[in-house]
Amino acid sequence: MVSFSLAGKTALVTGANKGLGRAIAHALSSLGAEVHGTSRTEAGQRAIESDGHAVGHLLDIANAQNISDFVRRLRPSIDILVNNAGVNAPSAALDVTEDQWDTVLDTNLKGTFFLSREIARQWIAGGISGVIVNIGSQAGTVGIEERAAYCASKGGLDQLTKVLAIEWASHGIRVNTVAPTFVRTDLTAGTLDTPGWGQVLLDRIPMGRFGEAEDIVGAVAFLAGPSAQMITGTTLLVDGGYTAR
Ligand SMILES: NC(=O)c1ccc[n+]([C@@H]2O[C@H](COP(=O)([O-])OP(=O)(O)OC[C@H]3O[C@@H](n4cnc5c(N)ncnc54)[C@H](OP(=O)(O)O)[C@@H]3O)[C@@H](O)[C@H]2O)c1
Repeated sequence: MVSFSLAGKTALVTGANKGLGRAIAHALSSLGAEVHGTSRTEAGQRAIESDGHAVGHLLDIANAQNISDFVRRLRPSIDILVNNAGVNAPSAALDVTEDQWDTVLDTNLKGTFFLSREIARQWIAGGISGVIVNIGSQAGTVGIEERAAYCASKGGLDQLTKVLAIEWASHGIRVNTVAPTFVRTDLTAGTLDTPGWGQVLLDRIPMGRFGEAEDIVGAVAFLAGPSAQMITGTTLLVDGGYTAR
């Protein structure tokens, strides 16, 4: 029997107060999971709670000490971790500042690694066969102008996915990445609304449209669920064919 049910599972979604994270929290909840979501701000935490799909928590993932303190305090135990929180700082490579580079890499790559490791340590100690789904990007596969730090972070995430999958498979832990094309959120509105640039990007997508949150959440739910039990170490592109060219 094919099943997409997440009943009885507890999921943690980072950056669940808006954008893709909010949609993912909603989707996992609709499939029966108890969902916990994080935001950096109390306003974001309240937004998660008021949605009614998830319990809200405060977490800035760009700092490893924050992460270990958070995981130590976190109740209940988690079965599914969705590393969704991410940032971009678009800039020509010649102009990228050290601060921009660190912010993007610390959030998208370092934070994902340390949170995954803290949770995996709990899973291994407790004999829990957990699942990690990272939110990568097509920018991990192709280069995109003015995204040196972002592409490096998402390409690194694809590689991290493979290493963690190999190292933790013997503990029954699966690690995969979903890599979307452009979806209109606060992260991308500036890019998609830049005259000319939005059309250039649209023309690169054979399916002829940008993604919607609904296009992304199905892939996350699939990889998190029982139908994907033999899938680990892979990146599932949800890009309308952007990277097929
Ligand atoms: N939208 C797209 O086109 C697209 C395409 C490919 C991949 N992605 C990826 O999808 C993920 C979600 O992006 P989105 O488009 O939904 O962006 P978004 O609407 O800007 O949401 C980003 C989320 O990440 C959180 N966040 C940022 N820095 C954080 C930090 N240091 N610690 C904890 N949380 C942090 C934000 O929290 P605050 O509200 O507190 O800032 C927010 O909840 C990202 O990993 C992004 O790279 C997006």
